[in-house]
Amino acid sequence: MNLELLAAQAKACTACGLARQRTHVVFGEGNPDAKLMIVGEGPGEDEDLQGRPFVGRSGQLLDKILEAAGIPRASVYIANIVKCRPPGNRAPEPLEAKTCTSLWLVKQIQLVKPQIIIPLGATALEFFAGEKLSITKARGKFFEWQGIRIFPMFHPAYLLRNPSREAGSPKHLTWQDIQLVKKTLD
Ligand code: URA
Repeated sequence: MNLELLAAQAKACTACGLARQRTHVVFGEGNPDAKLMIVGEGPGEDEDLQGRPFVGRSGQLLDKILEAAGIPRASVYIANIVKCRPPGNRAPEPLEAKTCTSLWLVKQIQLVKPQIIIPLGATALEFFAGEKLSITKARGKFFEWQGIRIFPMFHPAYLLRNPSREAGSPKHLTWQDIQLVKKTLD
């Protein structure tokens, strides 16, 4: 199995109701040998239209965050908990997340074998933590999932709603978090 074959299979997925309203399956993209993998929640409108993860406003901010730490977007692998856009950008339902991650995300992780995974936001964090946790409390700290280091960070959509850069603000903390990831990878 490789990522291209897995992506081809995912394109035909009808395992949950999200398949009915999608324009594209947003499988994920990036370096197949990435040391760093980033996992968001699910495609938004732009991602659904283009078939690529994090290409809308959140994606542009994610690119800036990575750039600020000297991590080229092309060096990482980017995916989401669910591969099809939930209507109105609602959070995925537990069964949608469970179905999609066991069919696709777990296999993507097994193929990429990253050293570090960054779950962005509470939905992605819940998958790796196995329980609902506060992203505000969990961000910026490592824990382990199946031998991989997990480092939760705020979702860029949350940062867009909280633009302050003051010391201690979500944006300020995120800039610190990404530097720590970079240092750990080096
Ligand atoms: N938000 C996400 O969680 N994922 C995307 O791909 C885009 C926006």
